[in-house]
Amino acid sequence: MGTRKVAVITGANGGLGYSIACRLLDTISPSVPLTIVVTARYLRKAVETINRLRAYASNRDLLSFDYVLLDLSSISSIDEVAHQLLSRYTHIDYLFCNAGGGDFTGIDWPAAFIEVISGPKNAVTHPHFKRERIGRISRDSLGWVFQINVFANYFFVKQISTLLSGGGRVILISSIETEIAHKFDPEDVQLINSDQPYVDSKKELELMHAAIAERWAEELDVQIYLTHPGICQTSIFAEYLNWFTTFGMLCLFYIARWIGSPWHVITPYKGALAPVWAAVDAVPEADPVDGIVYASATDRWGRPYVKPTHNASTEDRKNGAILVEVMDKLVEDSLERIKVEDK
Ligand SMILES: NC(=O)c1ccc[n+]([C@@H]2O[C@H](COP(=O)([O-])OP(=O)(O)OC[C@H]3O[C@@H](n4cnc5c(N)ncnc54)[C@H](OP(=O)(O)O)[C@@H]3O)[C@@H](O)[C@H]2O)c1
Repeated sequence: MGTRKVAVITGANGGLGYSIACRLLDTISPSVPLTIVVTARYLRKAVETINRLRAYASNRDLLSFDYVLLDLSSISSIDEVAHQLLSRYTHIDYLFCNAGGGDFTGIDWPAAFIEVISGPKNAVTHPHFKRERIGRISRDSLGWVFQINVFANYFFVKQISTLLSGGGRVILISSIETEIAHKFDPEDVQLINSDQPYVDSKKELELMHAAIAERWAEELDVQIYLTHPGICQTSIFAEYLNWFTTFGMLCLFYIARWIGSPWHVITPYKGALAPVWAAVDAVPEADPVDGIVYASATDRWGRPYVKPTHNASTEDRKNGAILVEVMDKLVEDSLERIKVEDK
């Protein structure tokens, strides 16, 4: 029996997060004691998730569950969760920064039609037809999408760095869509003016990673892996699709896979391959954290594998340093505000 492993999965209640939990249970030997800490926004979802995972791993002993209620759009919620984890645990082995999303408003159907006709594979890999709200601001007066997808992860990881140091792994979740991200704009770090803040926020996550991964590995012995799940069917965009368009989308996903896209993994369980591999099986000497995105991919027959991709450029590193400098200031300001609110 090994020492207990502790895994924290943000947004474990659905989609990719739930599949990460399942794959983790299938990957870590049952002889290793394991605690999975589920984070969800609401108590009901956290309890339901734990019940489902208990049923999934019903024949496994040495397994325990815990939960914390985390809302990434509230810095005080993240701070509170960090304190709860610091008081309950002495070490975290795996932190999956999975929760996130976008503020989508619908689909530009004429554009979608033209994109699908002119190149179906590209249309469902690098879509330009998903409409996003521009300029949404969070209760913390930050760009909302920037906050939940980028800054919240940075703030959270910093707040619990003592739990991660000495061998912990952080798994960030990016997206293949960063290939169509806008150029980083130092004047709009919070993506308030961006017309595709979701895509651009995922690119910022990559820039952040390029700026901190090597330093955190050297100084704290924390390996921060950047991964993406390929393209899988979850609820991230579901409210804009009915059964007919969902069916059409799935058909296009299978066609894209068949004509050579490695990214249409389709099921979230296959999408969870790279994040779980990075946490459990990657060997830092052979699979360096710095500058690389480890992605979930499949062959034509749907057999999944991990595909290393995208090397951070010199410009990415320079922009990452600018981003991290801005976020360090935001961390300071946020902590100051929380202190004042607590008085
Ligand atoms: N699906 C894909 O093809 C794909 C591709 C690339 C990257 N990703 C990334 O994979 C991750 C998981 O997405 P998904 O596809 O599984 O989508 P999903 O089914 O919508 O799940 C998103 C998860 O994040 C949680 N979440 C959203 N906003 C949050 C907030 N403000 N505070 C705390 N939790 C929040 C959701 O909680 P609720 O249930 O309460 O909303 C849910 O648990 C995201 O980072 C996404 O960007 C997905």
